[in-house]
Formats: sequence, structure tokens, C-alpha cells
Amino acid sequence: MKSVALLLSVAASLAAASAIAVEHEAHVRADASITLPRSAASNCNPHKQKDNWGNAVEKDRKRITIRASKNDRDDISDEFLSGIKRANNGGLLHLEKDKTYVIGKKLDLSFLKDVYVKIDGELKFTDNITYWQANNFFYSFQNSITFWVWGGRDIKIYGSGTINGNGQAWWDGFAGHEILDPNNAYYRPILFLTDNATNVEVRGIHMKDSPCWNNFFVRSKNVIFDDVYISAVSTNASSLPKNTDGFDSFNVDGLTVTNTRVNVGDDCFSPKPNTTNILVQNLWCNGTHGVSMGSIGQYAGVKDIISNALLQNITLLNGQNGARLKAWAGADVGYGYISNITYRDIHVENTDNPIVLDQCYFNVNQTECAAHPSRVNITDVRFINVHGTSSGKNGRVVADLTCSPGATCTGIYLQDINITSPAGSPPEIVCDGIQGGIGVPCVSASEA
Ligand SMILES: *[C@@H]1O[C@H](CO)[C@@H](O)[C@H](O)[C@H]1NC(C)=O
Ligand SMILES: *[C@@H]1O[C@H](CO)[C@@H](O)[C@H](O)[C@H]1NC(C)=O
Ligand SMILES: *[C@@H]1O[C@H](CO)[C@@H](O)[C@H](O)[C@H]1NC(C)=O
Ligand SMILES: *[C@@H]1O[C@H](CO)[C@@H](O)[C@H](O)[C@H]1NC(C)=O
Ligand SMILES: *[C@@H]1O[C@H](CO)[C@@H](O)[C@H](O)[C@H]1NC(C)=O
Ligand SMILES: *[C@@H]1O[C@H](CO)[C@@H](O)[C@H](O)[C@H]1NC(C)=O
Ligand SMILES: *[C@@H]1O[C@H](CO)[C@@H](O)[C@H](O)[C@H]1NC(C)=O
Ligand SMILES: *[C@@H]1O[C@H](CO)[C@@H](O)[C@H](O)[C@H]1NC(C)=O
Ligand SMILES: *[C@@H]1O[C@H](CO)[C@@H](O)[C@H](O)[C@H]1NC(C)=O
Ligand SMILES: *[C@@H]1O[C@H](CO)[C@@H](O)[C@H](O)[C@H]1NC(C)=O
Repeated sequence: MKSVALLLSVAASLAAASAIAVEHEAHVRADASITLPRSAASNCNPHKQKDNWGNAVEKDRKRITIRASKNDRDDISDEFLSGIKRANNGGLLHLEKDKTYVIGKKLDLSFLKDVYVKIDGELKFTDNITYWQANNFFYSFQNSITFWVWGGRDIKIYGSGTINGNGQAWWDGFAGHEILDPNNAYYRPILFLTDNATNVEVRGIHMKDSPCWNNFFVRSKNVIFDDVYISAVSTNASSLPKNTDGFDSFNVDGLTVTNTRVNVGDDCFSPKPNTTNILVQNLWCNGTHGVSMGSIGQYAGVKDIISNALLQNITLLNGQNGARLKAWAGADVGYGYISNITYRDIHVENTDNPIVLDQCYFNVNQTECAAHPSRVNITDVRFINVHGTSSGKNGRVVADLTCSPGATCTGIYLQDINITSPAGSPPEIVCDGIQGGIGVPCVSASEA
């Protein structure tokens, strides 16, 4: 059985989350979602260049290198840990081009403070499932585990290299399981996880073949991804790269993803409970489950929110969903709200559900959903300039907005929607249970 290295009960994480909010107040403006460059005047030496957080730039940093692995079983995790400790407090750890660095042991990197990790080579995890299922960091939210935890402040990871999760063996082993099945015990590690981190920047790298989610940010502030490529592609037709979400978050303020491409088998971008101040711009998603707010409202008695998101210039190809909002329903679920969300300039092609508001997550049937409706309110959500094609899987329906009778859905507004369906025309927009008009003509599901 899995040994639990770090168990965060929901209650503990709540207490810790509020403690952190207080701790960080001294350093970060409460309203800051993106830390802007400090003015030169605030630097001690006005002639020395500083990065966005006021720290030394690459050329002024002490550079640390470590030995590379000789083969796929040559575990250098001890060297990686001592290298990052030496680079901490103002230095740079460099993983060089054309070299592979194999990580075969779990790593606690929660102590970071002003560190650059430049990955030009390949950082690769072993696929020893026995080892990792017994040695990992565990989070009770959706029973998540990870190889390593990054925490602290001012952490920059960048370069032209790869973080390789070596996921094939994991996907093969997981075939037939379901991650949201409460009885599932086949846990798979998340490729990159921050916990209690402030100012995290990831740029340029390729995140390849994660066993499970690619990124999970927990109790973190100001996380920025730019120019990243995320892919999870199985070579085995009978084991898909399931649940390889691009981006997930939990208790995060300030999450920015720009100029990024995601080619995975699940959500492209899907912030989870308590994520605020989100910016996504120039994102390309292929074969995904879409750009989703949520799911939230999963755990009984717990309040979850998502607010203030702008998602702009997004291309979604060959996937299940385009722009999506998802909240849980059922007997023992939570409550909360999703508010102030703008999807703008969204291009879909061959997508089953281009626009979705689903409050009967996860797979809750109509009878059950009506008996135990979602209590997550959805307010002020705009879909502006969404165009392209559906797959036709849902006939002529190109947008399905169905609000739960237990919640409030107000201020849902669509404008400049031009999505065609290969199943015929005119395309249909379904709206049920939404208060007020939605800006375009729509029909009830029973008429569609
Ligand atoms: C995998 O890990 C287990 C448990 O730590 C260990 O006994 C075994 O030798 C490892 N297998 C390989 C192939 O390294
Ligand atoms: C969060 O990180 C700060 C340092 O950045 C540390 O002082 C604090 O103890 C950490 N909190 C938790 C709950 O780990
Ligand atoms: C492909 O995945 C299936 C399902 O897990 C597994 O039974 C099979 O052995 C895998 N094939 C290869 C070549 O690994
Ligand atoms: C929109 O995003 C795509 C990448 O998907 C990019 O190539 C294009 O330049 C972006 N358009 C604008 C106006 O920024
Ligand atoms: C997009 O995904 C489809 C399958 O979903 C795949 O066949 C295709 O190769 C992908 N395209 C790119 C450019 O990755
Ligand atoms: C989210 O934040 C609210 C406070 O706004 C808090 O009550 C709730 O417990 C948090 N939810 C989670 C899942 O941490
Ligand atoms: C709505 O969210 C946007 C960010 O997308 C933010 O700029 C704006 O201030 C928010 N509006 C309100 C009323 O909070
Ligand atoms: C949801 O909306 C209802 C009706 O406006 C309101 O009474 C309730 O407090 C809201 N719930 C949350 C979590 O904001
Ligand atoms: C709907 O789901 C409930 C709870 O899982 C189940 O008891 C019921 O049989 C389902 N009804 C239908 C029509 O599938
Ligand atoms: C809708 O898109 C189609 C092509 O996808 C285009 O021919 C048509 O002119 C567009 N309609 C409007 C009103 O923009």
C-alpha cells in the first residue's frame, strides 16, 4: 500500500491557506496577480540589471552544474538536490543540453528562495511504479500524488529542455481505472507541483508524458507559464494518456499562462477550488477536454470559488469540449461560485461541445442531478467571438448551458457566436435554468 508522506486533510489545508495569506501580505500586494518589474529606483545599485522580482539576472548568478546520468537507471536525485541547495539564494542550477538527468527518488524542494533552474537537457523520472506508489507526496484533493514538491519564493525554471514524466508504463498500468472513482487506489504522480510558493515562472521548456496531471499549483501566488509545450502521447492504442491535464490549481491567486501549446488527453487548462485572477492568452489545445473553470463544489460542506478570469485567443482542436464551466451535483457535494469569467476570441475545430455549462458533474444522471442539484452559482460569464466547427457528435447543438435548479446562473452572455455543425444547420444553442437573456436566441434541451 501507498505510504502517505504528506497528508493534507481539507481542514488542515484551510487553516494553512489562511495562515499563508497572512504571511505573504507583507511581501505581496493583496490585489497583485502579476508582480510587475520593480522600478530601477528601488534597486540598491541602479546600474545592476534585475529580473521581474528584483533579483539578479542570469549572467550575474553563480552557476552550478551536476553530473548527468549514464543510463536510465542512474539516479542523480541526490546530486539534483544538493545542486539546487547550492544554487538557492541567488544562483542557477544548469542541466546541460544533450544530457539526461534521471530522478528516481522523491524530492522535497519546499525551501527555495530566489533560484533559477535552467533546463536545456532532459530531466526524466524513472517509471518504477512500485517505488513511486510507495514514495510520494500526497494531497487529499482528488487523491493526488507527486514526485516532488516545489515551494518557497522566486523560482524560475526555464530553458530549451524537457521534463519527461515517462508516463507510458503508468498509462498502461492505469488502463481500466477511473481517477474520480472513490475506490480507485492506482495513483499516478503529477509532473510538476508547487505548494506554498510565491512567484513561480516557467518558460520555454517541454513537459512530456506526465503519468497524470502535468501541473498542480497548491496554496501558491503569482504563477506564470510562458512559451511552454505540454504533450502526452501514448504509443499504445489500448492505454490512453488519461487525466494528463495541462494546468490545475487549488487555493491560488494569480495564474498566468501565455503562448503555450497543450496536446494531452484531458483538460487543457482547468483551475480548481479557490483560484482567482487568471489570465490565459494565446493557448493552443489539441485533443483535450477543453479550457474549463472547475470542476468545483466536489467536497461536502466545502465552499469553492473561481473568479476573475480572462481567457483570450484560444484554439481548441479535436477535443471533447471548448470553453467549459463545471460544477459538481449529487448527495454529498459542496457549494460556492464561479464568477467574472471572460472567454474571448475562441476558435474551435472538430470539438464535441464547443461551449458547455455543466452543473451535473461528474456523470450525475438527470434524475439524481434534479434531486441533488449543484449549489455552485455561476455569474457574469461572457463568451465573446467563439467561432469554428463542432464535431457533430451532439447533432446541431454547439452550445449547452444547463443551470442547476439549486443554483443561480445570472449574467451569462454570448456574443458573436459562429460555430457550425457538420450534423446540419442551423446550429442550436441550449439554455436551461439560466436567469435572464443570454444575448443570443436559444432553446430548451427538450426542444433541441
Ligand atoms: C523499483 O523499486 C522497488 C522498491 O523501491 C525496488 O525494490 C526495485 O528494485 C526497483 N526496480 C527497479 C527496476 O529499479
Ligand atoms: C510557507 O513558506 C514560508 C516561506 O516562504 C514558510 O515560512 C512557511 O512556514 C510555509 N508554510 C507552510 C504551511 O509550509
Ligand atoms: C498496452 O496497454 C494494455 C492495457 O494496459 C496492456 O495490456 C498492454 O500490455 C500494452 N501493450 C504494450 C505493448 O505494452
Ligand atoms: C493567437 O494565438 C496563436 C497561437 O495559438 C498565435 O499564433 C497568434 O499570434 C495569437 N494571435 C494574437 C492576435 O495574439
Ligand atoms: C492533434 O490530436 C490528434 C488526435 O487527437 C492527433 O492525431 C494529431 O496528431 C494532433 N496534432 C498535433 C499537431 O499534435
Ligand atoms: C476556499 O476559500 C474559502 C474562503 O473564501 C474557504 O472557506 C474554503 O474553505 C476554501 N476552499 C478550499 C477547498 O480550500
Ligand atoms: C473581472 O476580472 C477581470 C480579470 O479578468 C478583472 O480585471 C476585473 O477587475 C474583474 N472585475 C471585477 C468586478 O472584479
Ligand atoms: C448563490 O446564490 C443564491 C441566490 O442568489 C445566494 O442565496 C447564495 O448565497 C449564493 N451562494 C454562494 C456560495 O454565493
Ligand atoms: C441515476 O443515478 C442514481 C445514483 O447513482 C442511480 O441510483 C439511478 O439508478 C440512476 N438512474 C438512471 C435512470 O440511470
Ligand atoms: C461564420 O463562419 C463561416 C465559416 O466558418 C463564414 O463563412 C461565415 O461568413 C461566418 N458568419 C459570420 C456572420 O461571421
